[in-house]
Amino acid sequence: MAEPVAIATWVFGKTAVTVADDLLRKGASALDAALAGAQAVEDDPEVNSVGYAGLPNSIGTVSLDACVMDGRTLNCGAVAGVENIRHVAALARRVMEKTPHILLVGEGAKLFALQQGFPLENLLTPKSLEQWEKSKPGRGRRDSVQPAPPDDDYTSHDTVTVLCLDKEGNLGGVCTTSGLAHKLPGRVGDSPLIGHGLYVDNTAGAAGGTGVGEEIIRIAGSLTIVEAMRAGRSPQEACELAVRKVNATAARRGVHPARVAFIALNTQGQTGAACTARTDFKFAVARNGHIEVLQGKEIAP
Ligand code: GLY
Repeated sequence: MAEPVAIATWVFGKTAVTVADDLLRKGASALDAALAGAQAVEDDPEVNSVGYAGLPNSIGTVSLDACVMDGRTLNCGAVAGVENIRHVAALARRVMEKTPHILLVGEGAKLFALQQGFPLENLLTPKSLEQWEKSKPGRGRRDSVQPAPPDDDYTSHDTVTVLCLDKEGNLGGVCTTSGLAHKLPGRVGDSPLIGHGLYVDNTAGAAGGTGVGEEIIRIAGSLTIVEAMRAGRSPQEACELAVRKVNATAARRGVHPARVAFIALNTQGQTGAACTARTDFKFAVARNGHIEVLQGKEIAP
């Protein structure tokens, strides 16, 4: 029997790990617990980078991405560019369980959601619309298709990634986001991409990312971390290695590293977290009812 652990990105990850920890202690599977935790954040109208009340793209549409992965079987599912469906992480799980596919996008994902009985909803709240209007480049022009620069201060990219270890010693993970605020319509980041925003394998470990998805995709962030753990690195060492890789790719392009952070968990219950400079990354960990919010280690370029 393993001691259950849940880890999630950002301060709002506390909501996710609190829900996940309660389920894990009752014997839930890692994937069930991670999904329930992520869904609690999707439902929170105060979190404007995930699910309901997520910040819209450059034309004012909320477009969500998510994926799930089971570390025992390597089964996984994902959806990208989904509008009007709140629980996209649960939808990603349906893709995993009910279809022979891994990733459904846009209208096809929405049609599948309707077939599966998910309700259509307006995900924009008066508050999120107001925030979007205030922060968008070109202030208040809903016809604009100009995205914000990928790492500007007024962008929002606080994905929730939840990784869990259950009593059986299995790992499971979920990643869900509204992506970069003011992104171009059609833009997809790392979050629904298996191996980028999330990767989970009982034989090596679990890892997930948050931050500017383009930079996570560039280094296949989560798979990089899991493979580093397979090669013998601790979750902390593996996260730091991935951030150093992000720093190195930025240096090769002559730019400052974008805000990116990673978390990791192995089957011994060890955790890790690291981020690029200026990210001020916090994450939450729950073990047996003990919940902490911790600061991720910043790796200077
Ligand atoms: N990490 C979320 C995104 O870039 O869409």
